[in-house]
Amino acid sequence: MPVAELNPQSPIADPQSAREVVVSVRGLTKVFKDFWGRPKARAVDGVDFEVRRGEVFGLLGPNGSGKSTTVKLLLGLLYPTKGHIEVFGHSPRHVQTKARIGYLPEESYLYRYLNSRETLDFFGNLFHLDKGDRNNRAEQLLEMVGLSQTRTRAVGEFSKGMQRRIGLAQALINDPDLVILDEPTSGLDPIGCREIKDLILALARRGKTVILSSHLLSDVEDVCDRVVIYYGGKVQAMGTLKELLATPDTLRITTPVLPRETMERVLEILRKDVATDKVRVDNPTQNLESYFLEVVEKAKRAAQETSGAQSGAKVAAYLRGEAEAKPPTARVLEKLTLPQAAPVTPVPEVEAKPAVDEKKLEAMTKATEPAPAVSKPLPATEKESADLSKANEKLSSLLGKPK
Ligand SMILES: Nc1ncnc2c1ncn2[C@@H]1O[C@H](COP(=O)(O)OP(=O)(O)OP(=O)(O)O)[C@@H](O)[C@H]1O
Ligand SMILES: [Mg+2]
Repeated sequence: MPVAELNPQSPIADPQSAREVVVSVRGLTKVFKDFWGRPKARAVDGVDFEVRRGEVFGLLGPNGSGKSTTVKLLLGLLYPTKGHIEVFGHSPRHVQTKARIGYLPEESYLYRYLNSRETLDFFGNLFHLDKGDRNNRAEQLLEMVGLSQTRTRAVGEFSKGMQRRIGLAQALINDPDLVILDEPTSGLDPIGCREIKDLILALARRGKTVILSSHLLSDVEDVCDRVVIYYGGKVQAMGTLKELLATPDTLRITTPVLPRETMERVLEILRKDVATDKVRVDNPTQNLESYFLEVVEKAKRAAQETSGAQSGAKVAAYLRGEAEAKPPTARVLEKLTLPQAAPVTPVPEVEAKPAVDEKKLEAMTKATEPAPAVSKPLPATEKESADLSKANEKLSSLLGKPK
């Protein structure tokens, strides 16, 4: 389903930008070889797809079908055996291209002794963000992912869901144009899942491109415009959800409950044209997610206590496209250091100073060199939970209805 259709006011409603190809993959093949160079696993096999600006594109498939390998190829962390990949018109290893990508790996690679704030500061540093921007974004992100109250706790103590949240925050610190999320909702509670989905939709509304892999089909269904389904490294199906899931030979009419006589009359008309066993009348049910959220919301309103995690906050202002509120000193410095009527110079293809510290970034994202595994999770404190809960309430009002 084209995003432009869903969000007519969004920047990607402009057909020109909607046509911009962000990722192009042709004949992509990755064969893992053993020590002797013999083929061990054909992880990705002759895959073709394109992802356009503002799309939310889902990679689906059973375990071992090639999703994460595709993601790593798109990030330039693996070399393809055959085929061609372009990201923003360049090789995925192009330094400026990498700076436009945010990546949430399947497994969290976090430095366990850094706290949340330091973790985000570290990643912000990789992208050469100035201190003001780093502080500003880190605060917004921590609030957004519901970890404001845990900013001084070492991430090594975090639960799985909390690690996912800080991982997501680090993936967004550079305000990326392309966000690649490998199993973003794994380990998250239903509220966390809803928030991640709302965030993905908010990013797409701003014309950001999102590629995600997931096993959770309902999550994919809620956010993806188009999906590709893998099996054995090969594309088995691809298209918009509307195309793939449509049942053009059936029709559903939903009405408020009708009086018995009205129903009889309607059925009488229908039976003239359609066999009785083809007509179905029932009460539609809501899905489990919306029911769950309703129950939790009710419990919260009744001020029931919980010692477990609660979460959620508004999408960071800079991710919503609002101007970054720089600290006053930064603004003064900016004015003082800006040349008068500075000419707008195009960014050269290769800058002397890379937009991102390649070595550090590689070290952080390389699957073969994970940071020490994080240890046993600790539950959130009650104060943390209460604060996170408040923030959560703001989220739905800010984001409006999910598509
Ligand atoms: N570094 C590697 N060395 C050898 N084989 C690998 C490597 N990485 C992946 N594979 C193999 O490639 C195939 C695809 O793996 P991949 O991780 O891409 O699957 P996936 O679709 O992400 O699965 P999951 O849903 O379990 O995350 C599997 O057979 C896997 O064993
Ligand atoms: Mg995977």
